[in-house]
Amino acid sequence: MRAGDDLSAVLHKLRIVAAELTGFSPDAIVTDALRRALRTHLTSWTPDDIDRAAARRDEALIRVLQQAVSVGETYFFRHPEQFEHLVDVALPALARDRDGVNRAWRVWSAGCATGEEAYTLAACFAAARGRHLPGDAQIHVLGSDLLERNIRTAQGGVYGRWSVRGSGPELFPLWTQEGTNRVRVQDHVRPLVTFSQHNLLEPSPFEGGQADVIFCRNVLVYFSPEAAQNVVSHLVNALAPGGIIAFGPMDLQTMPPGLVRAGPAELQLYRRVHHRESVPAAPATGRALPSKPPRVAKPIRPRRESPVAAPAPAPKPGIEPVAVHLKVLGLVDAGEDADALRLLEKLCAAAPDYVAGLTEHALILSRNGDIGRAAQRMREVLRLTSTLPDEAVLPGPEPLPAAFYVSSAEAFLERMEGSSR
Ligand SMILES: C[S@@+](CC[C@H](N)C(=O)[O-])C[C@H]1O[C@@H](n2cnc3c(N)ncnc32)[C@H](O)[C@@H]1O
Repeated sequence: MRAGDDLSAVLHKLRIVAAELTGFSPDAIVTDALRRALRTHLTSWTPDDIDRAAARRDEALIRVLQQAVSVGETYFFRHPEQFEHLVDVALPALARDRDGVNRAWRVWSAGCATGEEAYTLAACFAAARGRHLPGDAQIHVLGSDLLERNIRTAQGGVYGRWSVRGSGPELFPLWTQEGTNRVRVQDHVRPLVTFSQHNLLEPSPFEGGQADVIFCRNVLVYFSPEAAQNVVSHLVNALAPGGIIAFGPMDLQTMPPGLVRAGPAELQLYRRVHHRESVPAAPATGRALPSKPPRVAKPIRPRRESPVAAPAPAPKPGIEPVAVHLKVLGLVDAGEDADALRLLEKLCAAAPDYVAGLTEHALILSRNGDIGRAAQRMREVLRLTSTLPDEAVLPGPEPLPAAFYVSSAEAFLERMEGSSR
């Protein structure tokens, strides 16, 4: 057992090293995740050990910290309006730009988590073949992520039902149902995609401007401004002149130099300017994009029914539940329960199917004596998880199986009934 001062020095040191390794802003790193890493993997490490291990880039330390802080929330056709725009508007323009030259299309899903985004891009390009692209167009999609274990999952091409959600309708054929709880990426999509481990703080695999399309979504939202800027400059360097890049709704703080908007502001799609174009001046400071609150995306009719019943309703566009949840945990860590509660209220209203947020809300409400509302939240958790298999991994600051939330909610409600008897 460590003394209190010793423990907080180790946690402090771990937070700094984890931020350096990943680009995360230190306040987006959850203390509990570091505590768990200390309890299970780094049991006897002192601040000096951590310093020395970080200086020699100790692989065990790097792996443990990257896994501890990473947030892997993703699903197929996430933010579908971006994929619609890509296929219907951006790809025809890119194809026109090529002037009939039929060379391979290079696409990068940067920070792809378990690969759903990379396969979605491949499905979009496959669907565009013969329509906007030549029928024999070659397509190479690279999915990259910080975590080796994500890459292994991605390479498997088999997913649980949490990868298929109502808010991500299957715009183009991508998966085949396997049994009740699994989907498999279809054979026409799989060979278009390769995966590799890559840290976005490093120069990109496409340095020199070779990528036609890059999606780097919901990654920078956790980053410090300096690290985000560094990553964006690697991404822009990787993009071919005229190429398209997509970010998530909360990723950008300022308009990246060298890019212009490629669609309505709320889509967060940009194009790298050609050498011959002049670049509009970027706003000096502050949150540049979007200039107005994101519009609610127009409903998109799936081209084919989703075979897996997905939990509903969807989070409102613009909300990244795990990022907001991390902010809540920061407030709780700082002892600011009232602010944490306020933010959680907003989170639960905006993302009513985000089970980790509902559970968190219930726990803080209960700690603050509002047992009735806490119980209501826990019942919502049971309702949302009732159709999921126990092992379905749900997003949260730490991805956890549905069974964890079910047993927490049941235990809470049983305790409550016991105490009211
Ligand atoms: C929330 S997921 C986003 C997945 C996908 N892009 C999407 O929008 O659905 C963020 C991913 O970024 C990865 N990530 C975080 N820091 C990274 C870094 N420095 N380099 C590469 N990937 C990183 C995490 O491992 C995680 O899988």
